[in-house]
Amino acid sequence: MADPTQSLCYGARTTDQLTEAMRLIRKVRGCTDCLLHKGRAQAVFGQGSLSAHTLILGEAPGANEDRYGIPFCGMSGELLRSVLEEIDPEYKQRVFISNTVRCRPPKTRDPFPAEVTKCQSHLEDLVTLLQPGVILAVGRVAGRILASQPRARISRLREESQGVFRFLNVPVMFTFHPAYIRRNPHELGYFKLDVKEAYQYGTTVDQAGHEAKPSEGPSTKEQGEDVGESRSC
Ligand code: URA
Repeated sequence: MADPTQSLCYGARTTDQLTEAMRLIRKVRGCTDCLLHKGRAQAVFGQGSLSAHTLILGEAPGANEDRYGIPFCGMSGELLRSVLEEIDPEYKQRVFISNTVRCRPPKTRDPFPAEVTKCQSHLEDLVTLLQPGVILAVGRVAGRILASQPRARISRLREESQGVFRFLNVPVMFTFHPAYIRRNPHELGYFKLDVKEAYQYGTTVDQAGHEAKPSEGPSTKEQGEDVGESRSC
């Protein structure tokens, strides 16, 4: 399960980034751009390190996420987080997890294309904020928007298009949704390999880029402070 003591955002690179993260959290929480806001308990911004090299993007909050305000905090999240933990026990310092759509669709149905489109500006804001080395799309909803291919199958994207597409100039990789893996455990090995490949790619970009940039300066107490409260999940 998601760590109940973990704040939504931490590990900012700069004070400006921290300020911007706070602004974006407020913006997402107050968003009324589509009808999904009427049925939500809360909008789910995302959770993770603001210094993340890997942005993992799912579909939309489900019942648990809507209740607790944390992405992937149910059974699918347990699987995703256990795979990340296996790859790197310190993954929380290197990953940010969010969703294509920030509010729970009724009865946890797939988000409609119009809802995904309305939420795209929040996704663009997040990618601009984090400037990750790679985005890993988990499942078809994230895969389709990140590849700008509204009818693509995730199995085809993951087989043929790893790193081919870019979203705001960030390379995109693809894998199955962890809910699918739970229903089809024989695919777990592929899922683990995909997540590992994306994570390692993100590390490479990070080592070549972000951490080496002198302009970013040393991290300070203030930059490392947490943003946003989360409750137990
Ligand atoms: N929880 C999320 O936050 N996103 C998903 O896509 C599924 C479960």
